[in-house]
Amino acid sequence: MACILLTGATGYIGSHTWLALQQAGFDVIGIDNFVNSSPKVLARLAQIGGLEPVLVEGDVRDAVALDRCFELGRSRFGGIQAVVHFAALKAVGESVERPLDYFENNLGGLLAVCQAMKRHGVHNLVFSSSATVYGKPDSLPITERAALRVTNPYGQTKLMGEEILRELERCDTSWHIAYLRYFNPVGAHASGLIGEDPRGIPNNLMPYVAQVAAGKRPHLNVFGNDYDTPDGTGVRDYIHVCDLAEGHVAALRYLADQQQSLTVNLGTGQGYSVLELAQAYGRASGRDIPVVFAPRRPGDIDACYADPTHAWETMGWRAARGLDDMCVDSWRWQSTNPNGFEG
Ligand code: NAD
Ligand code: UFG
Repeated sequence: MACILLTGATGYIGSHTWLALQQAGFDVIGIDNFVNSSPKVLARLAQIGGLEPVLVEGDVRDAVALDRCFELGRSRFGGIQAVVHFAALKAVGESVERPLDYFENNLGGLLAVCQAMKRHGVHNLVFSSSATVYGKPDSLPITERAALRVTNPYGQTKLMGEEILRELERCDTSWHIAYLRYFNPVGAHASGLIGEDPRGIPNNLMPYVAQVAAGKRPHLNVFGNDYDTPDGTGVRDYIHVCDLAEGHVAALRYLADQQQSLTVNLGTGQGYSVLELAQAYGRASGRDIPVVFAPRRPGDIDACYADPTHAWETMGWRAARGLDDMCVDSWRWQSTNPNGFEG
């Protein structure tokens, strides 16, 4: 069975993908420098999956650390067949404050990973892109053919990452790359043992709502109620992180079987407003979610949801879990781990 290297393996999406890959029979090696994750994830992965995780602690910009991953892959599992590159910094606001750090980490990291893959003769890559590359879309739902435009340094690293990789595969046809444009990943593994563990005040909606439900924050600030949406609050395509993780398994199979690249949206195709999500979370948790209307957040758009048809037609993947599953699983994680991985 094939062995896959995950960069950013102990992060939110990486850890769920680790389990999905194991479940599908893949061997996994991870690399992470824990800049935005906890080493405690590893014990949880072992607890759920029943296997001791193989992880190199290191920075993806460090060629020696990456070479170690490929050597471990050879000695333990007969060689790495493909890489899923999650490792990146992802906070939009922070990227405006520290653009150079984002360019260096996200683009420097991508180049270092590709160089290491080339050194070791591995050419199948899954790249974590984002719906942020569509900016404010001209029409909805968003297909992969929509115009690409970005409005902040983080988004720029995803767009430039895609462009670098497209140029790479044009010059060297041995590369096969899956460009996965994630919509809004939320929820947690059904075990309640792993989930999203943001540092400080959550920037994103569901982790914030989770903390309101837990009584850690008094209310949800709803950023804007005059958007061009049915209830005036922002609409997004929330996707269960386990569906998203399974999308990576499908993409890796596609690359191995079809020997060609692909660009796909990973979303459900269904948009929900801020108020709809807050209500669903209230139902799932049995807690009140008080809301306070606040000004719009700079840079936010009215609505963003995917046309997920292409993912279904190319790789036979589509999301199976709905908004209530996302909220129930998030709440299980939140309520049993009130301080995330720290206890
Ligand atoms: P995350 O921060 O939880 O995980 C990223 C992991 O990468 C962390 O464990 C971090 O420690 C690690 N990392 C960062 N820089 C590194 C480096 N130089 N060397 C080694 N490890 C490094 O984020 P996530 O939500 O799991 O996101 C994973 C990927 O998906 C990222 O590329 C992100 O940009 C992309 N993405 C996320 C979302 C989202 O809403 N969560 C949406 C679209 C795209
Ligand atoms: N929102 C609130 N209150 C909050 C947090 C968010 O009302 O406390 C609203 C936002 O205004 C928006 C919606 O909830 O209407 C979703 O906001 P998120 O921050 O959860 O998600 P975004 O769609 O703004 O951004 C996310 C990631 C980006 C990524 C983008 C597209 O954070 O990195 O999805 O994939 F680029």
